[in-house]
Amino acid sequence: MAHINFKNTATYPKLKQHFEQLAKTSLKDLFAQDSKRFDKFSIRFEDILVDYSKNFITQEIFDLFLDFAKELKLKEQIDNMFSGEKINETENRAVLHTALRNLSNKPIYFEGRDVMPDVKMVLKQIKNTSQTIRNGNWKGFTGKRITDIVNIGIGGSDLGSKMVTQALTPYHQEGLKVHFIANIDSSEIHQCLKPLNPKTTLFIICSKSFTTQETIVNAQTARSWFLKEAQDTEHIKQHFIAISTNKTAVAEFGISEQNRLGFWDWVGGRYSLWSAVGLSIACAIGFENFEQLLKGAYAMDTHFHTTSFDKNAPVIMAFLGFCYSEFFNADAQAILPYNQYLQHFPAFLQQLDMESNGKQCDRNGKRVDYLTGSIIWGAAGTNGQHAFYQLIHQGTKFIPCDFIAPATSHNPICEHHDILLANFFAQPEALMNGKTRKQVKTELKNQGKSDEYINKIAPFKVFEGNTPTNSLLLKKITPYTLGSLVALYEHKVFVQGLMWNIFSFDQWGVELGKELAKEILPKLKNNDLISSHDSSTNALINAYKEMKKD
Ligand code: F6P
Repeated sequence: MAHINFKNTATYPKLKQHFEQLAKTSLKDLFAQDSKRFDKFSIRFEDILVDYSKNFITQEIFDLFLDFAKELKLKEQIDNMFSGEKINETENRAVLHTALRNLSNKPIYFEGRDVMPDVKMVLKQIKNTSQTIRNGNWKGFTGKRITDIVNIGIGGSDLGSKMVTQALTPYHQEGLKVHFIANIDSSEIHQCLKPLNPKTTLFIICSKSFTTQETIVNAQTARSWFLKEAQDTEHIKQHFIAISTNKTAVAEFGISEQNRLGFWDWVGGRYSLWSAVGLSIACAIGFENFEQLLKGAYAMDTHFHTTSFDKNAPVIMAFLGFCYSEFFNADAQAILPYNQYLQHFPAFLQQLDMESNGKQCDRNGKRVDYLTGSIIWGAAGTNGQHAFYQLIHQGTKFIPCDFIAPATSHNPICEHHDILLANFFAQPEALMNGKTRKQVKTELKNQGKSDEYINKIAPFKVFEGNTPTNSLLLKKITPYTLGSLVALYEHKVFVQGLMWNIFSFDQWGVELGKELAKEILPKLKNNDLISSHDSSTNALINAYKEMKKD
C-alpha cells in the first residue's frame, strides 16, 4: 500500500483553513454557540466517559476529518494491523499485541499460521506460574514460600507492568510484594534488595532481546546477591524466571528453558504488558484480574476496530493530537491522572508515545517537513497543580492536556475524593475559560483595591484560557477499565503515527547513544587521558577519572 503524505490530500488545505479560522475564536464561544456541544463531542465507552468537547473542534471540522480519514485509508491501515500484515516495515515485523487479548476465539494469522494456540499456551503458563507463586506452592531453595518478586527489566519490559501493578494496588495479595528494578544505577538495586531475603525472593528477568545492558547487568548482580546466600547454582531454578524471546541468551545466563516464558517478535516492547511480560502483574493481582485487564483491552480493541470514526475514541483523540501538532504547533501534551495509583501512567505513556512517534522520517524514507511526536509528560493531580500547572495556565506554550480520573475511590475517606474530583472538573474549565482583564479588574475592585494597584497587578492575573483538554472519567480503576484505558492510548498513538505517515513500531533512535556508551565504557577502566572525542566529552571523561581517584 502506498504511504500517503497527509499534505497531499484534498482535505488537508480545507482543514488548515478551518483551523486558522477556529484559532481566532475561543473555546468559550464555541460552547456559548452550541448548547449541545457536550452531547456532540463526547463518547461513552462502557464505564469510560471521553469528553473531548473542550477542544478546537466543530461539526465542519469533524466532517472534514471523516474525509481526511478516507483519503489516508485509515480504515484499511488499521485492518492491516489487526490482520497481521508486517506494518513494522523497517524491522520486517507484524504488530499483533491485539492477539494477546483476543478473547473472540477467532484465529489470527501471521504468515499463514494461527498465532492463538501459542498465545493461549503462554497465557496458561502465566496462569500456572502466578497461581503457584501466589498460593505458596512455589518454594524457595529452603522450602519457604515466595514473599517478594523483583521484576528486572527496562523500557517496555518495566514501565507497563510497573504502571499496571501500581495502578491496581487495591487488588494485591497480602504477603506478596512486587518490586521493579530498571536503572543501571546500582543504588536502585541496592535499595531494593537491602530489605529482602534471598530465601523468599523470586526474580523475573524481563527482556525481549535478553541483550539489554541494564537488565543483564542488574540480573547478574541479583544472581550474585542470591548465590551469596544460596551457594549452589542449582537453586537458581527456584529463584529466577526469564521472560524473553531469546532462548539462547536465557540459557547462557543459567535460567532453564522450563523457567522461560516466551513471546514473539510481533509484540513490541512498549506493547508487551499483555504478554508474559505481564507475569509480575498477574503475580500481584492474580490471574483472574489479569484476564480482566485483557478483557478490558479487548473491548477497546473491538471498539477501535469496528466503530465508525465519528464515534471512535482512539481515532478522534489521535486526530485532535495530530491537529494540535500540525495547525497549532503544539510540541507537548500533558497527561494528568487525578488518581494516585495512576502516578506512573504519564511515564508509561511517555515511552508508548515518544518512542513510537518521535520520528524524523516518513514511511517513504523522506525527512518530514512537519512536526511529529509529542513531548509527553505529567504527574498525578493535584500535585501537579502546585508545581507545573502555572506554565500551562499562564506560560506561552500551547499544551493540550488529558485529564483522567475515576468517579469512585478504592479508599473513600471523608471528603478526599470529592475534593480531588472538584479539582479534576475545575482545571479543564479554568484552562478553557481563563480569566479576562475585565474580570480581574472587577474582582480587585470588589476587594476594595485602589485603581493604581489594580492597573499595576491586573495583567499578571489574566488567564488567556483557550487551552484544549480531554477529560476521561472512569467509573473506577479496575483491571478491566485500566485495560481499556491503556488500549485506548495504544491505538491513539498508532493512528496519530498513521496520520503523520511515520512508522510507529520501530525505535532506531535509541541505538546511537547505546553504541557510544559501549565504546566509552572500556575507556573508563584505565587511567589513560582521553583525547579521541570532542573537547567537551574528553574533558568530562577525564574529570570523571580524576574525581573517581579521590
Ligand atoms: O532501548 C529501547 C528498548 O529497545 C525499548 O524499545 C524496549 O522496551 C527496551 O529497550 C527494553 O528492551 P528489552 O525488552 O529487549 O530488554
